[in-house]
Amino acid sequence: MTIGTYRTVKVEKEDGIGWLYMNRPEKRNAMNPQMHFDMDAVLPEIEGDPEIGAVILTGAGEAFCAGQDLREYFRGLDGDPMGRRRAGEASERWRNRRLAGFNKPTIAMVNGYCIGGGFTQMLCCDFAIAADEAVFGLSEVNWGILPGGLVSKKLTDTLLFRHAMYYACTGRTLDGKRAAEIGLVNESYPRDRLKEETVALARELMEKNQEVLRATKHAIRAVRTMNDDQAFDYLAAKGAEIKQRDRENAYANGIKQFLDDKSYKPTFGAYDREQAIRDNQAAE
Ligand code: ACO
Repeated sequence: MTIGTYRTVKVEKEDGIGWLYMNRPEKRNAMNPQMHFDMDAVLPEIEGDPEIGAVILTGAGEAFCAGQDLREYFRGLDGDPMGRRRAGEASERWRNRRLAGFNKPTIAMVNGYCIGGGFTQMLCCDFAIAADEAVFGLSEVNWGILPGGLVSKKLTDTLLFRHAMYYACTGRTLDGKRAAEIGLVNESYPRDRLKEETVALARELMEKNQEVLRATKHAIRAVRTMNDDQAFDYLAAKGAEIKQRDRENAYANGIKQFLDDKSYKPTFGAYDREQAIRDNQAAE
C-alpha cells in the first residue's frame, strides 16, 4: 500500500515498522496548522496499512518537537477564529483521539527537544523512549500561557503530582535520563543506541498476538478513569472481544504449548504463533 505524500510529515516503512516523522527540521518540528492537518490525514492511512505493524513517531533532524508554532499556530491565527478552530480541532484530534486510540502499538522516539505542546503526542503514544541527551521542557509558564490543550491533563495522568507541578510551574528542563527516572518516558539510552533500542521494543510488540495486544493497550488506557465496577465490566467485555476477533486462538494454543507440548513459558516470552497457526490448520 502506498501512503500519500505530505508537506510537513514523512512516512517510511521498514520491516513492518512505520516511521512517522514530524518533518520541519529547520523549525525544530514546531507544529504549524499544516502539520496538524497532515497528521490528521496520515494516521488513518497508517492504521489501515497491512504492511505496518507498529508505529515509531519521531522528529526529523535534531529535535523531536518544539511545541506549537508560535508564529503560524499562535500569532498567525490571532485574528482568524475559524482558522484557529480548524487547526485547533485537528491538533487535538490527531493526538488525543487518533494516536491515543490507535489500533497498533505506538512508540515516541524522543531524539531531541520535546517542548510544550510537543508533550501531547509523546504522552499519547503507548510508549516513549528518549535519548539521554533529549531535552524536555514545559516552557508555557515563561511566556504567558499554561500547558493547555490536554498537556496538563496528560501530564498529571502520567507523572506523580509533585513532578507535574514542579516542571509545569518552573519551566525547568530535564534530560532523557531524568525523564526515565520520573516515568515521563519508559527508557533512556545514549543517542547512538536510541534507534536500535526503540526498534527492539517495536519488534517485541509485533511478535505478540495483535488482537490481544490491541485490547490490552486500550484497556490500560481506559481503566484509569473508571471505578472498580466499571473497570471489571469493561475488562470482561474486552476479554470477550479478544475471543471474538482472535483468529490465532491464542488462549487455547498458549495453554496447549505450555501444558501439553511444554514448549514455552509465558513468563518469558510470547507463545509460538507459527506453531499455533499450524495447529489451527490441523484442527480444521
Ligand atoms: N514556534 C515557531 N518557530 C520555532 C519554534 C516554535 N515553537 N521553535 C523553534 N522555532 C524556529 C526558530 O524561530 C528558528 O527559526 P528561524 O531560523 O526562522 O529564526 C528555528 O526554529 C530554529 O530555532 P532555534 O531557536 O534557532 O534553534 P535551537 O536549536 O537553538 O533551539 C529550541 C531550539 C530550544 C527548541 C528553541 O527554538 C525554543 O526555545 N523554541 C521555542 C519552544 C517553545 O517554547 N515552544 C512553545 C511551547 S508552548 C506550546 O507548544 C503550547
